[in-house]
Amino acid sequence: MAELKQRLRRLRRTEGLRRMIRETALGVDDLIQPLFVVPGSGVRQEISSLRGQFQWSVDTIVNEASATYDDGVPAVILFGIPEEKDPQGTHGWRQDGIVQRAVAAIKKSAPSLTVITDVCLCEYTDHGHCGVIDSEQGDVDNDATLPLLAREALSHVDAGADMVAPSDMMDGRVAAIRQELDKAGHTAIPIMSYAAKYHSAFYGPFRDAVGSAPQFGDRRGYQMDPANGREALREVALDVEEGADIIMIKPAQAYMDIIWRVRQQVDCPVAAYHVSGEYAQIVAAAERGWLDFDRAMMEVLVGIKRAGADLILTYYAREAARKLSAR
Ligand code: PBG
Repeated sequence: MAELKQRLRRLRRTEGLRRMIRETALGVDDLIQPLFVVPGSGVRQEISSLRGQFQWSVDTIVNEASATYDDGVPAVILFGIPEEKDPQGTHGWRQDGIVQRAVAAIKKSAPSLTVITDVCLCEYTDHGHCGVIDSEQGDVDNDATLPLLAREALSHVDAGADMVAPSDMMDGRVAAIRQELDKAGHTAIPIMSYAAKYHSAFYGPFRDAVGSAPQFGDRRGYQMDPANGREALREVALDVEEGADIIMIKPAQAYMDIIWRVRQQVDCPVAAYHVSGEYAQIVAAAERGWLDFDRAMMEVLVGIKRAGADLILTYYAREAARKLSAR
């Protein structure tokens, strides 16, 4: 009887063999690239805490989106930084809002690129919370937020978005958005819900990028406690029942077990968001020469895939697509 070590060695002898027996295949079609759009023109502003990622204006994001598609990435998810923020986040659903204009421009120049939009109020509210504030309670008012999110989602789809991704974690928002879209005749547009979204320190760089750090309190009331796993299954079940077409888990790296458990529970596609802080920590270590950026990123992405994610939202999408198609 041969030793296991020797048997495995035989299978690992050449790159060809290693490829043939590889259990998990990360493919370009699994990747979704987040992009940030800001007011102005000619903008290409690097985000200091998210090295290699930029804020784009509507005119420059068009080229970036097309180039991302040309590199093999099938989809982007857009985040908008509005000209003005107010308590209700009204710029979130304006027809001439920043995301709405970006969607229309991108779809015009790259019609085959799948354009997803993040639906949330935190980028648009001056207090930075994901919903409107009930002044008596001093807390986010779940139910009062729902029609605003539905309105925002509809405005994105009217502008040409292929899919909407509510990230606010209000209860009932998937149903509210579904109803609003259906009423307007957009029955064919899917919803990818951030179903299990944890209250995580790893969103730090993102909040710098969009200026959405809460001005008071935190998001513990509506985001999940990192210690809870079963609770994620309840959140996911609720969103599926409300009509979510794709379920997302966020962040990814510290929540691989959640990805795995959700994969066992649902039959719909599962997405995982490798968030800003997870990306930034690898960038930072690589800058110090402590690890190899490309290898570390590819290892994390294949790990997320192995855990059960069908789709991965990652700031590394374009780079990974280039590597994957290079062979
Ligand atoms: C909320 C939203 C956040 C992220 C995506 N959508 C921030 C938050 O909940 O504070 C974070 C993504 C990242 O960190 O990369 N609109």
